[in-house]
Amino acid sequence: MSSDWDPARYLSFAEERSRPLSELLARVVTTQARLVVDLGCGPGTSTMPLLERWPAARVVGVDSSPAMIARATGAARGPRVSFVKADIGDWEPEEAPDVVVANAVLQWVPEHVSVIERFASVLAPGGSLAIQVPGNFGEPSHALMRELAASGRWPVPPGLLRESPVLDPGGYLSVLAGLGLDADVWSTTYLHVLDGPDPVLEWVRGTALRPVLAALGDEAPSFEAAYAAALREAYPPDAAGRTVLAFRRIFAVGRRPG
Ligand SMILES: C[S@@+](CC[C@H](N)C(=O)[O-])C[C@H]1O[C@@H](n2cnc3c(N)ncnc32)[C@H](O)[C@@H]1O
Repeated sequence: MSSDWDPARYLSFAEERSRPLSELLARVVTTQARLVVDLGCGPGTSTMPLLERWPAARVVGVDSSPAMIARATGAARGPRVSFVKADIGDWEPEEAPDVVVANAVLQWVPEHVSVIERFASVLAPGGSLAIQVPGNFGEPSHALMRELAASGRWPVPPGLLRESPVLDPGGYLSVLAGLGLDADVWSTTYLHVLDGPDPVLEWVRGTALRPVLAALGDEAPSFEAAYAAALREAYPPDAAGRTVLAFRRIFAVGRRPG
């Protein structure tokens, strides 16, 4: 299995994955923007709504995955949008952005608070930093994956699956307020009703499970089979074949006064 992202697989839950972005953007009060940055833009799904929301702005999508950047470049074209293949841990905008969005990306970046600090420090006056991260790392979908990885039955590299890659909502509030931003932080638990066989496995295949399978090579199928069996017990379908996936997400918007 390739270690790169698979845009088509990621997009298979496009509707469920797009809703948090619109709820995040609804709380961004910056109306005028010249430059908007989409950190971890993925296949461009988070970039296109930014073009609509700030019709006079230039929008730059940044992502470290060649496959995602290729997909985004094909999906969103025009004089106002561009994409850069770069790591958000060290990429810097050419001028002060008015809006920086990081939707479902910071959980992948170790030391992500330093990314928040860096982009908060370059925001234009009146500009906003808008973040959304999953807050579900204690749920069976992740706990079972970590349990199997730690069982010693598969050579999963130590440290690949972090127990808690994000802060709790209060942690983001403290970080944003400490940076001098007006902060608005909340969390929401979505109850996704999924159809079909092994839908939770299908969901995580597009995201959290991806690096584990890539690291295991030939041993990936046996890990996935054991994980699928554990998920079936943790997320039994109802009589109509529907499975409920509770998915908590954490949102944080910080606005620089001015
Ligand atoms: C779950 S997807 C989110 C995509 C998009 N923001 C959305 O809302 O659909 C996470 C994206 O973050 C990117 N990513 C992860 N770590 C990154 C890093 N250090 N620098 C840049 N992009 C990164 C991945 O390549 C992937 O495209």
